[in-house]
Amino acid sequence: MGERGPDEQVTPDAIMQLGLGFWGSKTLLSAVELGLFTELAASAGGTLDADSLAGRLGLHARSARDFLDALVALRVLDRSDDGSYRNTPESELFLDRRKPAYVGGMLEMANARLYPFWGSLTEALRTGEPQNEAKRGGDIFDELYADPERLKGFVKAMTGLSQGPAQAMAAKFPWRDHRTVFDIGCAEGGVPVRLASAHPHLTGGGFDLPDVRPHFEAHVAAHGLSDRLAFHAGDFFTDPLPRADVLVMGHILHDWDLEKKRLLISKAFDALPPGGAFIAYDSIIDDARRENAFGLLMSLNMLIETRGGFDYTGADCMGWMRQAGFREARTEHLVGPLSMVVGVK
Ligand SMILES: C[S@@+](CC[C@H](N)C(=O)[O-])C[C@H]1O[C@@H](n2cnc3c(N)ncnc32)[C@H](O)[C@@H]1O
Repeated sequence: MGERGPDEQVTPDAIMQLGLGFWGSKTLLSAVELGLFTELAASAGGTLDADSLAGRLGLHARSARDFLDALVALRVLDRSDDGSYRNTPESELFLDRRKPAYVGGMLEMANARLYPFWGSLTEALRTGEPQNEAKRGGDIFDELYADPERLKGFVKAMTGLSQGPAQAMAAKFPWRDHRTVFDIGCAEGGVPVRLASAHPHLTGGGFDLPDVRPHFEAHVAAHGLSDRLAFHAGDFFTDPLPRADVLVMGHILHDWDLEKKRLLISKAFDALPPGGAFIAYDSIIDDARRENAFGLLMSLNMLIETRGGFDYTGADCMGWMRQAGFREARTEHLVGPLSMVVGVK
């Protein structure tokens, strides 16, 4: 705790803001669910008055004004002097479902799944057991993949989540020294698409469970990259990983317990040539475990979502990589709470 000046009052404001933070969060999630930002982006001039907007979204007269103005106060919506609403620059770019930069897939999943599951956090803290679809047994992926609609929503959400880190990885890693890259646990292939778009000499693709193939192939085709990026179906615990100069695992290691994390790292090591690189990115926790609140909360999210998963520090991961045989390991910040740990064989 820092020292406070003599005039500084101790107030409960920050505690109350944190404690009731879910009000603002759920208001945004409902706006995404209702398609508010997409509706505004599609309207003439990008604006709609309150009645038209409420009509299009099916809002009750009692809720509309407070809902829309709360979003203005939360800085995700703008209101003009004539009372009409428009998207902010950020919501126009990132929350319109029809734009490629849409990040709402993740928020749609947060709204439909994580929000109710986090209601059982106390039970997870006491039992150590997942609180999602896997509560009845099995793992999250068996459950997600049993329902084609849920699978589609999930892989799309992953694309939203991986755009920022993929862009940073495209800029920060020395791709000119490598020719091939495979993303292991690739979902729709948001990462290889970004990397191949930024670096025309790269070829490779993505590796994931067989059900993911049509989603990967559609996403890659939509970006005109089918001649450079291929899908390899398999189970990363039982099948060998594809050979490539660089292997990426994004939001993979944190899904599993330590034994499985180590197995995945050593399988990546085996599939790389000497000089090849393994990039693991996650919301890497700072080594002192004090600063990256998002990374620590992501680890609690893994408590809710998985049987043994947890997030980790850069020092943890570099240690596992060195023990697996990598001759060098470094941690590099990507974007926001995300960092990559790079192991060189
Ligand atoms: C949390 S997602 C990460 C997606 C993507 N890498 C990203 O960062 O956006 C985990 C991915 O691992 C895949 N996966 C889970 N178990 C797997 C297994 N045993 N073999 C191969 N892929 C698996 C899932 O299908 C899913 O696409």
